[in-house]
Order: sequence, then C-alpha cells, then structure tokens
Amino acid sequence: MRGTRWLVSYMANETPILRTVDLKKHYQRSGQTRFLSKGKKVTVKAVDGVSISIPRGKTLAIVGESGCGKTTLARTVALLTEPTSGEIHLDGAMIGVPGSDRRKAYQRMQMVFQDPDSSLDPRMRVGRIIEEPLRGLTDMSEADVETEATRSLVAVGLGEDFLDRLPRQLSGGQKQRVAIARAISTHPKLLILDEPTSALDASVQAQILRLLVELQDKFDLSYMLITHNIAVARYLSDIVAVMYAGNIVESGPTKEVTERPRHPYTMALIASAPDPDPWKRNLLSTEITGEVPSAISPPPGCKFNPRCPYAEGICSEISPPLEEVGPEHLVACHFSSKTVPK
Ligand SMILES: Nc1ncnc2c1ncn2[C@@H]1O[C@H](COP(=O)(O)OP(=O)(O)OP(=O)(O)O)[C@@H](O)[C@H]1O
Ligand code: SF4
Ligand SMILES: [Mg+2]
Repeated sequence: MRGTRWLVSYMANETPILRTVDLKKHYQRSGQTRFLSKGKKVTVKAVDGVSISIPRGKTLAIVGESGCGKTTLARTVALLTEPTSGEIHLDGAMIGVPGSDRRKAYQRMQMVFQDPDSSLDPRMRVGRIIEEPLRGLTDMSEADVETEATRSLVAVGLGEDFLDRLPRQLSGGQKQRVAIARAISTHPKLLILDEPTSALDASVQAQILRLLVELQDKFDLSYMLITHNIAVARYLSDIVAVMYAGNIVESGPTKEVTERPRHPYTMALIASAPDPDPWKRNLLSTEITGEVPSAISPPPGCKFNPRCPYAEGICSEISPPLEEVGPEHLVACHFSSKTVPK
C-alpha cells in the first residue's frame, strides 16, 4: 500500500484525473441461453451505475470476481465501447459525448490489456507497435515519433535493439513491457490496466508490478487497475473499489478497506486472501458460497443477498445505497453497523 497522503489533495477538492457518474453499460443479447428462450432479447447489465474517482497520480484498484463487470467498466471508461448512460470526466472535461475531443482523450488515456499475445500485432515490429499511437494521436514529426518510441522503450527497461524485433521473438514479460511502452508513448495522464500481470509467470509478475510503480513515480501517472487479486491491489493501489454484479459495493483507502472491510462481500474476499502474496495465490478462490448472480436477471434488492450471511428481509426488497462509514470509506449495505471491526 502506497500511503494515504493523497487524501490531503483529494479532500482539498483537486479535480480528479478520472471521474465517472452513474456509468452504465448494458448489452442487448439474443439467442438461446440458460436464462433466455430462442429469439428473445434480454439486457445484460454488465456495468450498472458506477461512480468512481481517481485522484491525480494515484491508483484506484477495481477488484471483484470473474464476470462482475471489471473489463466492461475499463473498456467503457477507455471509450472502447459506448456507454449506455452516465458521465465520464477525464482531467475535468466530459468525454465520449458529441463535441468532445476523442483523439485528445485517447492520447491522455491509454489501456494495457491482460494478454500481450492478443494485444500486440504479431506482424508488426516493436518500433512500429510503439510508434502507432504517436502517429494516430499526435501531430509529431517522423523524427520526433522515432525519438519518443525509443524513449518509451528505454523507460520500460528494454534497449534500442528491441525496436526491430517481432513479438514472437520476445518473452511474455518483454511483450508486456512493449505493451506498456506503447501505452506511455503519447504521454498519457491515465493508464487503464486490465489484469496487466495475470497472464505472466510469478517472478515476471513481480518485475512488471515494480516497473508500474517506477513509471508512475517518474511520469506522474494515474492508474485504474483491474485485478481479481487482492494482494496485487494491496501492493499497487491507494484506493480500492470492490465490484459486485455491475455495482461498486465498497470503496475507500486501500489500507482501510483491506484491513477493516465493512461489506460482507469484501469481508469474504479478504477472508479468502489471508496471505498477501500476489505471486502464489488466486485470492478469490474460496470462502464465498454460491455463484455470481446473472447479469441478465440479478436478484431483487441487494444483489448479494442470496449469498450473504447477514441478509434480512429488507435485503431482498431494497437495494442499499453507498453510504459513508468512515473518511472516504463507502459501503452499500443495510447492515454495515453489524460489521464494525471489534
Ligand atoms: N460484448 C458483450 N456482449 C454481451 N455481454 C457481455 C459482453 N461483454 C461482457 N459481457 C457480459 O458482461 C458481464 C461482465 O463481463 P466482464 O468481462 O466485464 O467481467 P470481468 O469482471 O472482467 O470478468 P473476468 O474477471 O473474468 O475478466 C458478464 O456477464 C459478461 O458475460
Ligand atoms: S444489504 Fe443485506 S444482503 Fe446486502 S450485503 Fe448488506 S446484509 Fe448482506
Ligand atoms: Mg475481465
């Protein structure tokens, strides 16, 4: 965990680098599934009203089980898919709306994906991969494009001799370094990192996490880090937001949320992750019984109620709002008073 000095600037009302307001991404799906008869259309509420904020130079980790909507949230914020409704503010300006400067938004906000094998074009040499966003998103001269590409490559710990290599001539860690070099080449302010280390070997994961810390300090970057691994969130983030079935159910300073969780779902996640060792454990593997609810037909009221040991009648009727339970610590639970740590 990276200290809580950010709270000072955050509370002094500095404009956050990223802010979303009631952001939704609903997909229309048709066909035959467990929940759907043939030909009928249903709505998949992958992201269902998410409001988050990332202070400048800080890391927000979004954690949650598979299928809870993390990648959809990342792709929606990154304008790789159109939001259904809600607002996205990047560096104080609303983006993704008519009249907003999309090119500038892409230049200031870049994404790093989980699997470099699918995010890097196998036919392109490393130099061209890194130069591509510079050519598309900036008005730099050819000479400057080449200089910037080399600068980015060196910043991620690879030498100029890598410029002429193809992705298949790189190790997994080197490929992810190239993906990061491409992302930082346009001097973005925000990187959206979707499980950036989970496709890598344990020792390489540690190196990439260290590199991300180094780059953040060097270039004053802000990160939105998507991870299913609480230990990675603990290592890299200042703030954590816990996502469940398309909603944020708890958020706050990482130390506070991971040491004194107040939402029953977060408590179960933390309980299943006693060993803060990011290299060995899949931290969401045990403890919580039952399945993540369907994004097509979630249970009424609090979506966690079928799995929650604290649930009472109201929980299956009324959805709890996010409410402050401590400084910057928000929890969506009717009975958060029962989960105060002793
Ligand atoms: N293009 C799409 N069309 C329809 N449904 C989608 C689409 N993309 C995602 N979904 C659905 O949205 C929900 C959230 O998916 P998402 O990939 O965002 O989850 P995730 O938290 O990133 O999961 P994981 O940890 O496995 O990567 C799932 O129910 C998924 O099936
Ligand atoms: S609102 Fe009810 S079901 Fe939901 S987390 Fe709180 S106690 Fe559990
Ligand atoms: Mg995902």
